[in-house]
Amino acid sequence: MHHFRYAGSNLHCESVDLAEVARLYGTPTYVYSAATMADNYNRLAQSLAGVDLRICFAAKANSTLAVLRHFANLGAAFDLVSGGEIRRVLAAGADVRGSVFAGIGKTEAELELALQSGIYSFHVESEPELARINHVAGRLGVKAPVAIRVNPDVDAHTHAKITTGKSYNKFGVPLKAAPAAYEAAAKMKNIQVRGVQMHIGAQLTAAAPLIEAVETVGALAAELKTQYGIQYFSIGGGIGIVYRDALASGAASWWEAQPADQRPLTPEAYGAALLPLLQPLGLKILLEPGRYLVGNAGVLLTRVEHLKRGAAKNFLVVDAAMNDLIRPAMYDAYHEIVPLHRDTTRRALVADVVGPICESGDCFAHDRQLQEVGEGEFMALMSGGAYGRVMASRYNTRGLPAEVLVQGSAFELVTARETFEQMIAGEKIPAFLK
Ligand SMILES: Cc1ncc(COP(=O)(O)O)c(C=O)c1O
Repeated sequence: MHHFRYAGSNLHCESVDLAEVARLYGTPTYVYSAATMADNYNRLAQSLAGVDLRICFAAKANSTLAVLRHFANLGAAFDLVSGGEIRRVLAAGADVRGSVFAGIGKTEAELELALQSGIYSFHVESEPELARINHVAGRLGVKAPVAIRVNPDVDAHTHAKITTGKSYNKFGVPLKAAPAAYEAAAKMKNIQVRGVQMHIGAQLTAAAPLIEAVETVGALAAELKTQYGIQYFSIGGGIGIVYRDALASGAASWWEAQPADQRPLTPEAYGAALLPLLQPLGLKILLEPGRYLVGNAGVLLTRVEHLKRGAAKNFLVVDAAMNDLIRPAMYDAYHEIVPLHRDTTRRALVADVVGPICESGDCFAHDRQLQEVGEGEFMALMSGGAYGRVMASRYNTRGLPAEVLVQGSAFELVTARETFEQMIAGEKIPAFLK
């Protein structure tokens, strides 16, 4: 569900004509819809209205200050994975008192920052980490609230690079080892046991693996509540989204545009499947959604450079590249690609849509059915709001792309395009080369 629609022939984000944004701020530029994020947030909250719920937006999906502030205004807390993300939330004018700090390699400096900022809880991934948290908390003279991340060894049936809940993944403490880890935590002087956590993977399109994991870890949560008086159970993130959008496919709805076996998990189906398992626990329930809240709320605008007719294929060369959006190169991800100006009288074109980077992997789409577009025209890569700009790099000395936030008919540049001077600001020529 999102607020990108053709009004007449032009693609709009809410009430804003995206071609105007592209002309004003140039390309490549990410554009986000505030209404889409708000709708997604409210719809998810509604789907689990029967429990004491806290939605912790996974900032790793999109940590732009304006996006963090928007979620804070909506009432969200955050799932954070670095000192940098904690500082981003604070810089956005929000606080981390309802937020959790996860990740398997938190440094002492990061733990200190989290404790000093009043983090709600640490999600602990191992016993050595627990000992480190105990040590840092002791140094600061405070008790650190923790939940242990339990790895339930459940197959999430998603891409191998985003599966996290199998025993061979690096995450969490095995279910069998969890009681001993809690016993150790409860004995530590500077630790306060506060909850239990799980996260089995991302881009989940079925409820079954989640049900299995929540049943398994839920049984442990009930025991921990009796034994240690834990307050919450975080069931992680991972709700999948639609990448094959109806905008280009011509299907009657976004749902129908999906191959039958890839139809996503709606928040309503998610809530209906999990509510009966969560309600009886009587615990606060934390969710850590990233992609679901922002994925379909963003697009990447790009400009056509050339149509290159090769010996075996056509190549539509655009000015965005794998450094701006790595998902197709990294996960073989599918992104819909549509023109900002639609004209049904144009001829059909089948082409690879590629960026200018010197790698064959710099390809957004293979043999894609498109309409013929000319040099200088703008296009949008859809569903780029999650794991898009946050994973951008400067490869080939290309500055990080700009970002624009839209709300209704208002829009503002919220991240300026990185300049060459900013890119080289931290570099110098050593004296021995001069
Ligand atoms: C512990 C944890 N929580 C939440 C998320 C967010 O996942 P998603 O964006 O798929 O909802 C992740 C993603 O890596 C994660 O590792």
